Amino acid sequence: MNAGGTLIAGPAAGPLKGELTVPGDKSMSHRSVMLAALADGVTEIHGFLPGEDNIATARMFIDMGVRIEWLNDEKTSLRVHGVGLHGLKQPQGMLDAGNAGTCVRLMAGILAGQHFSSTVTGDASLCKRPMKRVVDPVRRMGAKVEGGDDGNLLPITISGGKLKAIDHVSEVASAQVKSCVLLAGLYADGVTSVSEPKPTRDHTERMLPLFGQPVTVAADGTISLDPKDRLTAPAGVVDIPADPSSACFFAVAASLVEGSDVTLKSIGINPRRDGWRRVMNGMGAALSLENEQRVGEEPVADVRIRSGGLHGMHVDPNDVPDAIDEFPVLFAAATLADGEFVLTDAEELRVKESDRIAAMATALRSAGADIDEQPDGAVIRGITKLRGDVDVDAHGDHRIAMAMAVAAQRADGEVRIHNAAAIATSFPNFVQLAQSVGMNVRWADEGEA
Ligand code: S3P
Repeated sequence: MNAGGTLIAGPAAGPLKGELTVPGDKSMSHRSVMLAALADGVTEIHGFLPGEDNIATARMFIDMGVRIEWLNDEKTSLRVHGVGLHGLKQPQGMLDAGNAGTCVRLMAGILAGQHFSSTVTGDASLCKRPMKRVVDPVRRMGAKVEGGDDGNLLPITISGGKLKAIDHVSEVASAQVKSCVLLAGLYADGVTSVSEPKPTRDHTERMLPLFGQPVTVAADGTISLDPKDRLTAPAGVVDIPADPSSACFFAVAASLVEGSDVTLKSIGINPRRDGWRRVMNGMGAALSLENEQRVGEEPVADVRIRSGGLHGMHVDPNDVPDAIDEFPVLFAAATLADGEFVLTDAEELRVKESDRIAAMATALRSAGADIDEQPDGAVIRGITKLRGDVDVDAHGDHRIAMAMAVAAQRADGEVRIHNAAAIATSFPNFVQLAQSVGMNVRWADEGEA
């Protein structure tokens, strides 16, 4: 990779073919190391995503006295020597979440329960993202939080301790908020509950019982946790399935490049993460599931994709949280589909690693796409081919960079994608895997960008 992190992508030279195993799920990797660190006993985790975001979470626990043994050079297997709910030590310096929103927001819940103060910071992008959504509930539970804009902006300093249980009604459909409150609930004096405007990914609820902490979900979707006095390391290995958010890039690429046939192995198909498949099916994609099975508490399957005439659609607002991370690449699909694609109710996209509505609309438009940006989504009218020999900006956002690399497979020349180095936060071997199925993408050489 060149220092600036410029990707050079497209057009595909021919059909994409082959089988791929994408890395482990990012959301589950964060949660596995958090719960393992807080458990009594040693937890072995396989299929961990060694992206920068998850390594940041692991490093935070190392900074608070947790021993982590990496079991292979790739850092996909590890053994976490848990210190128990009350065994973390005050860190010497600031805890650094890097680019990782999930890390900082879930850690806010854990740090709220500690009898010490700690300061959490992140990179320039994370320091602009809203933290009030987690700061408000942990303050109501009794933690003291200080930070810019009344605690909305990193760095924030959290002084915690024994917490009060709350019933939190979240205004945003956010698994990070829900998980923060549930994790803080481990340190509360009674039953903590969370309700959310639409259901969100439920990995925290599925994983806590593996560590001996039951969670109940009421008929109306409210999630409650009555804290036990300890978490216990699971007897067996914690296996993490492949990340559907990473798989989706190849699903869209294979749909777009004529003659393609790609199989993505053992992908998480948890309904709360499977919105991308519902959207792609709604667009007419040729997707099929094979070898459905379970990995731990999560359903997985091989997903086979053949190229096929995609058409536009109106995305069901109820599917939005279940596909929230996939919209950048779904915008690429929509740009190259027949007819009109309409997304609404997705204003959360504006506060991700970048403003993803603006970033994708700008990048795709500069390659010839027909997109109207809306405050909460976009209207995209499909075209048949993008224009090549253009420069676009990924704004340091991993998913914008990879989505544009996919879109470029149907361009009539090279697309140069600048500020793309953040791919390493979630998908360090993206370029290598993309090349292995025939995608035309590479890192620019020094001086070439
Ligand atoms: C995540 C939740 C989502 C998602 C993020 C990971 C998680 O964020 O966008 O990539 O692991 O809980 P929100 O909770 O802000 O929607």
